Amino acid sequence: MKDRLLPYLACPNCRGEISLAEVSVKEDQEIMEGSLACAGCAQNFPIVNGVPRFASMAEVGEEKAEIAERFGWEWKNFTQRDDKYAEQLLGWLNPVRPEFFRDKVVLDAGCGKGRHSTLAADWGAREVIGIDLSDAVEVAFLASRDRANIHIVQADICKLPFKRTFDYAFSVGVLDHVPDPLAGFQSIASKIVPGGHMSVWVYGAENNGWITRFVDPVRTRFTSRISPRMLFHLSKIPTLALYLATKLIYGPIRKIGGPDAARRLFYGQYLSSLSQFGWREQHVIVFDHLVAPTAHYVSRPRFEEWWQCVGVRDAVIGFHNQNSWRGLGKINNFPEGA
Ligand SMILES: C[S@@+](CC[C@H](N)C(=O)[O-])C[C@H]1O[C@@H](n2cnc3c(N)ncnc32)[C@H](O)[C@@H]1O
Ligand SMILES: [Zn+2]
Repeated sequence: MKDRLLPYLACPNCRGEISLAEVSVKEDQEIMEGSLACAGCAQNFPIVNGVPRFASMAEVGEEKAEIAERFGWEWKNFTQRDDKYAEQLLGWLNPVRPEFFRDKVVLDAGCGKGRHSTLAADWGAREVIGIDLSDAVEVAFLASRDRANIHIVQADICKLPFKRTFDYAFSVGVLDHVPDPLAGFQSIASKIVPGGHMSVWVYGAENNGWITRFVDPVRTRFTSRISPRMLFHLSKIPTLALYLATKLIYGPIRKIGGPDAARRLFYGQYLSSLSQFGWREQHVIVFDHLVAPTAHYVSRPRFEEWWQCVGVRDAVIGFHNQNSWRGLGKINNFPEGA
């Protein structure tokens, strides 16, 4: 943890001031081991392996702890970076462009291995804070420790340890895995400065009927219960089918006719976009769909309702790859703890 994170922090329990209580190991600019203390409720928060820890798995509840454990495994074992991440992220955040990040204090809410936190910093953000509930924070920390303006924090999206401090927050593929997604949505909104912006991307209910009907029962009863290592190997079977379909059918059609050419085929737009990725990336996408015990597929009316619940009536909402919702909204003082 870098000292310059401190002014942004606030106690997730009482919103009290947070200060450094102890530094036992420091390496260059990073406090690797130590602790933080809240002036309000006197609670201590450890800093372990360079990451301040505001969420304890013993306290977040069984469901969230399970979700965190499984995603932690995912990102510790799929640490690769891909050149296509930037374009992919811009698809999820559209109409936000790289220039939008310039000089902003940015929250990456549910940062996983931190691939998007680094992009946000590359695009000129003043400070980027990536939070995640899982041990993926350790991967994100290692990937960004040499970047002075990237900070990684372990926290629950529903109990963020920050002041109202962000010019822009984005959350990609996270609220679908939070037991109460609206609570997470509102929590993010409550940390945005008046007039700041928020982007959210989640799986859609629309066009995903085949997943909710056929894949979900397998996920809830089987793949989210077996060990992540076993799932890692088993998921190579559907990945092989995906890989062959995208490389032999969707990819060539995309090359000849452009991104919209495969639109009429089964799951066309999405599979066409996946055709750009290699085996490893397709494997993590399949694994990611099967690993979590909780996955919400959100309908457009429900997604619109979330925005309305934080006072946004004119969110820019788009149907991405014909299977997911992305939204961008301007937030005006949504109250904390609402
Ligand atoms: C599908 S991954 C997406 C990660 C990242 N946004 C990306 O696109 O690379 C979902 C992430 O949400 C995190 N997550 C799930 N529940 C969370 C919670 N309650 N608070 C914070 N993070 C959470 C998981 O640990 C996981 O890293
Ligand atoms: Zn406190």
